[in-house]
Amino acid sequence: MKVRKAVIPVAGLGTRFLPASKAIPKEMLTIVDRPTIQYIVEEVVASGIEVIIFITSEGKSAIENHFDYDFELDTLLRQKNKLDLCEEVCHISNLIDIISVRQKKPLGLGHAIWSARNVVGNEPFLVLLGDDLVLSDNLPCSQQMLNLFEEVQESIVAIQQVTPEEASQYGIVEGEKLREGVYQVKRMVEKPPPGTTDSDLAIIGRYILQPEIFDILGKTTPGHGGEIQLTDALQALAKRRSMYAYQFEGTRFDAGDKLGYLKAIVAFALRHPSLGDDFAGHLKKVCASL
Ligand code: G1P
Repeated sequence: MKVRKAVIPVAGLGTRFLPASKAIPKEMLTIVDRPTIQYIVEEVVASGIEVIIFITSEGKSAIENHFDYDFELDTLLRQKNKLDLCEEVCHISNLIDIISVRQKKPLGLGHAIWSARNVVGNEPFLVLLGDDLVLSDNLPCSQQMLNLFEEVQESIVAIQQVTPEEASQYGIVEGEKLREGVYQVKRMVEKPPPGTTDSDLAIIGRYILQPEIFDILGKTTPGHGGEIQLTDALQALAKRRSMYAYQFEGTRFDAGDKLGYLKAIVAFALRHPSLGDDFAGHLKKVCASL
């Protein structure tokens, strides 16, 4: 089956980014010249997905507005003959069809994904977490996963290696290596206490899920942090049918963390077509003066 829909949960409060995220959704914080969420949406579009489902909450309407057509702005830019800018702004609203679903209560990532069940229906779907940005030289991370899905037709979680100290901040996968970058999932645990797992394979925010996950999520009880955890539901799904963990090619940035966000800005700025060279020159001077 083909994956046509992507679910992007954006309902979180963004407490790690306060006070910046007090009145602005953290997904709308800028990386160079566009909000973080636009990079995620562009990855989805570049991977050939047809529909995006945002899981939202109160106070997140700026995200929907960003991808909407703005008639007044369009008219104003045309009147001022700023046609390039007009085209760029219109391009954002034409990227892809977007559906919004409210997460009624802040019960965790698993509950957010479960909120999409009626819109996704009975087909496999992609999930992208807005905090995780992946910069890759060749194929976007989602496309790499879709390519593997074509072959295995089963759920896939994206993983990267972390240090033992970092393992307790992630969902951790214990698996059997099948070939370079591909593992058969044996067990998954959300944020294991230090010293309770030997695995260094951490889940990052990209998943392709079979729709069976919705039934499981509906029965999943609160886990780590008192929240309904996607990882707990995935562990139950992995017991029923095959699941794969995929070590993607590319660099992942945790843009939901202040230092990760700064690293993402530097990486994306260095690659920017018109600003990259000047920014690199500036960075060299800054580094030389340290
Ligand atoms: C979520 C998932 C976790 C995953 C992480 C990746 O955790 O629950 O399994 O490793 O995203 O960013 P969060 O960072 O939202 O606490």
